[in-house]
Amino acid sequence: MKNLVAPSILSADFSHLENDINKLKYSGADILHIDVMDGHFVPNITIGPVVVKDIRKVTDLPIDCHLMISNPEMYFEDFLEIGIQYISMHIELNRSVKKCYEIVKRYKAKFGIAINPETKTDKLKGIIDIADYILIMTVHPGFSGQAFIKEASLKIPVIRNMGYNGLIEVDGGINAEIAKELRKLGADIIVSGSYIFRNNIKEAIKMLR
Ligand code: DX5
Ligand code: ZN
Repeated sequence: MKNLVAPSILSADFSHLENDINKLKYSGADILHIDVMDGHFVPNITIGPVVVKDIRKVTDLPIDCHLMISNPEMYFEDFLEIGIQYISMHIELNRSVKKCYEIVKRYKAKFGIAINPETKTDKLKGIIDIADYILIMTVHPGFSGQAFIKEASLKIPVIRNMGYNGLIEVDGGINAEIAKELRKLGADIIVSGSYIFRNNIKEAIKMLR
């Protein structure tokens, strides 16, 4: 099991983004989690490849792009060209998984499959093994600062029982106390936004680990 912390910049101050990213880096962040939303798959719009490209210039932290968009196959290449290390798409789209996987394999990056709280793990059957990581959502995607949905985290042992040996990332509503439980369940990567930015960043990252 890995013990990684991936702060989500959705809770950062976008008018001082470089500053916040540096703070994360020097506070021990392992991965920078970037939430990409299109206003269609989720009811919010955030940032796209143009901004990720500039973020790549100011940090050497591994970048994890969580694509909450309806047509990931159209944009995967744009993100991967930037030189990011992790990229995920949602299983709820019911398509494009293999196509996106094929694109990622042309780059040195990890391919993630994200699953929403209400989506059953059965949906991952037959496809799970092509994922380098499974991103378990513990809030309904779209916004930071929402309450953690515990039942969704119980997918961790279920996915392991499916014989899955890759990484498991958990995202949404996570604080130190919840992170401890998630590590016990076998989470490798903890994503956290509001908890990190509302507290002393260094202390919060330490607690999440
Ligand atoms: C929600 C995003 C999360 C979110 C995490 O759609 O995928 O990454 O920003 O923020 P908190 O930790 O505040 O739930
Ligand atoms: Zn996310």
